[in-house]
Amino acid sequence: MRVVAPGDFGEAAAAAVVEMVAGLDAPVVGLPTGNTPGVLYAALRRLAELGAFDAGLWRPVAIDEYGGPRHHPCSNRAYFEQHWDAIPGARPVLQFDPEADDPDGDCLRMAEAVEAMGGLDVAVLGIGMNGHLAFNEPGSSLDSKARRVLLHGPSMTSARACWGEETPSRGLTLGLRELTGARAVLLLASGGSKAAIVQAAIEGPVSSAVPASFVRTAPNHLYLLDSAAGANLTLG
Ligand code: GLP
Repeated sequence: MRVVAPGDFGEAAAAAVVEMVAGLDAPVVGLPTGNTPGVLYAALRRLAELGAFDAGLWRPVAIDEYGGPRHHPCSNRAYFEQHWDAIPGARPVLQFDPEADDPDGDCLRMAEAVEAMGGLDVAVLGIGMNGHLAFNEPGSSLDSKARRVLLHGPSMTSARACWGEETPSRGLTLGLRELTGARAVLLLASGGSKAAIVQAAIEGPVSSAVPASFVRTAPNHLYLLDSAAGANLTLG
């Protein structure tokens, strides 16, 4: 676990993921969306513009998507267009297609694509207010693979800020097996609203009740927190 000042969070997140991919030729990197990683993508963009980071080497993979219209402005696809594609040299993100004729088949396509690339080298993750990882909601098994899921209430409440009345009730997500099976797992959390769930994930039992606690099962993992998200931690 590493706790940094809020103003240093983006740079620290970029440094952590760059360190995790060091020495790999074409790292397969699972990428999150949401408010939290915005500063990570901005920091990676600055590094790329300075020539200190070659985004073209990475093979980026979306960790999840809303089960809504493919080109909706609140979709993860739109998020990646705004935040990832703005990084000079960045390759297109491998993504779920929420409008595929067969959404379950689309999840299988993602699972097989990740497997064919040798699995994720790094999974960069956020944490939901209920402890979800990507869209692996509480109750998800550590063995779960990419699949279509029903979103729980807290996830829909968070989504409503952007989606409003059109908030999807489903999501498409990589499973906990693909995410926690990555060679390195970086979980990012910032802001005081995450302090309670961050404490549960790091100091509570490892359990499907808090999927983010499963990050601790990954041999190489880092919870990177800003001081507000780490405020409730009691262990040294
Ligand atoms: C969303 C995503 C997650 C993300 C989480 C936290 O529901 N499916 O992958 O980590 O919410 O988002 P935020 O960083 O906006 O709090």
